[in-house]
Amino acid sequence: MPKVLLLGIETSCDDTATAVVRGGVHVLANVSTNQDAFHAKYGGIVPEIASRRHAALLSAAVDDALSRAGTHLDQLDGIAVTAGPGLIGSLVVGVAAAKALAFATGLPLYAVNHLHGHLFAAFLERDAPPPYPFLALLVSGGHTQLVEVESPTALRIIGRTRDDAAGEAFDKTARLLDLPFPGGPALEALGRTGDPKAFAFPRHRPDPGTLDMSFSGLKTSVRYFLESDTGKDARREDVAASFQAAVVDVLIDRTARALDARDYRAVVLSGGVAANGALQSAFLALGERYRIPAFVPERRFCTDNAAMIAAAAERRGDVARVDPLHLVADPNLPF
Ligand code: KG4
Ligand code: ZN
Repeated sequence: MPKVLLLGIETSCDDTATAVVRGGVHVLANVSTNQDAFHAKYGGIVPEIASRRHAALLSAAVDDALSRAGTHLDQLDGIAVTAGPGLIGSLVVGVAAAKALAFATGLPLYAVNHLHGHLFAAFLERDAPPPYPFLALLVSGGHTQLVEVESPTALRIIGRTRDDAAGEAFDKTARLLDLPFPGGPALEALGRTGDPKAFAFPRHRPDPGTLDMSFSGLKTSVRYFLESDTGKDARREDVAASFQAAVVDVLIDRTARALDARDYRAVVLSGGVAANGALQSAFLALGERYRIPAFVPERRFCTDNAAMIAAAAERRGDVARVDPLHLVADPNLPF
């Protein structure tokens, strides 16, 4: 069977992203217009600004992806778009564009859950994709969960954060350290010259019987620490490195417990926080410890991108296919 050529569109948050992907693996173009400059002065994403920027940028971003891939709409086999979850005003821009393109060209339309997209990012640009069943640790700004992946369409959440997502904890702690938005990468950069063992911040695991996690207590303890006498004089680099070490410990501990409970053939890391170097190293070491391959997507496929949306559509096939006239963006789309 020839490998399908899909256009991917992702506008669930603040990245206006488009891509052209062949066979769910080969990325012919991956375009992302980052809006950080528009949101930085507010210290976070302003939904109204995000949706307006998507509307201004998306059409050119589609043209850009097609031309970089050296292809045209009439050479595509389908269009894949993020239908949720995310910011409603942002999602509707991508969904409306994808519906219009699919309707005008008659191409099949695939509605993709943003989180499934993150999961299948691990398949991009790989000769050998992760074998099933695999365990995925999905860590983004809005979600943190462990997923048992039996097949592309049989996904089950077996553990999740009870409060903040790991990325949210990075962003909030970065703000406590007066770092610029977006906080995760800035905190990682600061921590690079810090001592991860300088301060023992709490590693909170809700209870032994579950694979759930919690990060809001950690962020609060960093806040109290920074307000304390010792904290006021502490090197910011050490605080950043110690906070990051605590997040990584909790994530790795929970993933290890899940690996103890069942034999998986691979372990997969995904989501924006997967771009974190300390987490990547610990994750690869975990794979070695359990003697299974550990998959970490390239950095450009960890944070929001449209190639992962096309990859998920290709893997999930007819399950993701929808009628272009009836697709509605859903900010709370269930997993
Ligand atoms: O997956 P993503 O791009 O968007 C969502 O779906 O949420 O994830 C964004 C999150 C943000 O919280 C950001 O701070 C975090 O990923 N992030 C990082 C790094 N790069 C992005 N966190 C820690 N270290 C990084 N290098
Ligand atoms: Zn995301």
